[in-house]
Amino acid sequence: MERIIITGALGQIGTELTLKLRERYGEENVLPTDIKEPEDEQLKGKPFEILDVRDMDRLKEIAATFKPDTIMHMAALLSATCEKDPQLAWDINMGGLVNALELSREFSLQFFTPSSIGAFGPSTPKENTPQVTVQRPTTMYGVNKVAGELLCDYYFEKFGVDTRGLRFPGLISHVKEPGGGTTDYAVEIYFEAIRTGRYTSYIDKDTNMDMMYMDDAIDATIKLMEADASRLEDRNAFNVTAMSINPEMVANEIRKHIPAFEVDYDVDPVRQGIAESWPNVIDASHAVRQWDFEPKYNLAKMTEIMLEAIRNK
Ligand code: SER
Repeated sequence: MERIIITGALGQIGTELTLKLRERYGEENVLPTDIKEPEDEQLKGKPFEILDVRDMDRLKEIAATFKPDTIMHMAALLSATCEKDPQLAWDINMGGLVNALELSREFSLQFFTPSSIGAFGPSTPKENTPQVTVQRPTTMYGVNKVAGELLCDYYFEKFGVDTRGLRFPGLISHVKEPGGGTTDYAVEIYFEAIRTGRYTSYIDKDTNMDMMYMDDAIDATIKLMEADASRLEDRNAFNVTAMSINPEMVANEIRKHIPAFEVDYDVDPVRQGIAESWPNVIDASHAVRQWDFEPKYNLAKMTEIMLEAIRNK
């Protein structure tokens, strides 16, 4: 991994991934792309290309000029957005993925794309969800993710493309807010704690989902991409997580810093339904064994950092 194209670079993960990769591999070796111009001060005025991931000609044109050895394909619609327009979700999530994989085959690129806890469904074991288990998701997002995981395995087996990937849990960050996800509450709650001192949660108070602080997610991504291929038995869609939390747990942690913080509940049946169809806590032992996955942030540490960073904004 030396010269990297990123798709969906203005998204929640893509923004921080771009900054971290530039720090590590040099600004000239990382090319972020997305469907609109960046507004973020840290990305403005630096190399950037407009790209709709459904446009294969444009993707090839960018690759032919930039000459990457790696593509990190982050462009996708999140779970709640996918439910609003499932056809568009298929078009972007699957169309974009196939294009990025085809590009990797043609240009011999190393390839990364995230899967998600959304690749599991109601019939999946909820506690310590194994790496290999039942995957019958009931959302379009989940259908896309399962198909994507299989497609990445296929491109490795059939064409020898060095595909790698992680099943991310909800990711929590203060640099760029997510949009359209089921786990977004866990970011919004921190911003609202600072902005207004209160939060109305659309997820019920005792609904557990896996989460991870963004720094751990970015570190895990880079670690997997740099890992010795001979150690990787699973290659794609590694379960990773740092904590299993619910809104009440987050609220209680925030109250250690802001005692007057208030939370009430107005549960959204769509996103609550999605959350209930996902695991409570997944087992990340394959990632630990095969490439030394080691998250550093728990709820307490992450809460301290989130509140401090948002306060300073
Ligand atoms: N954070 C994503 C979502 O909620 C899960 O991968 O859609």
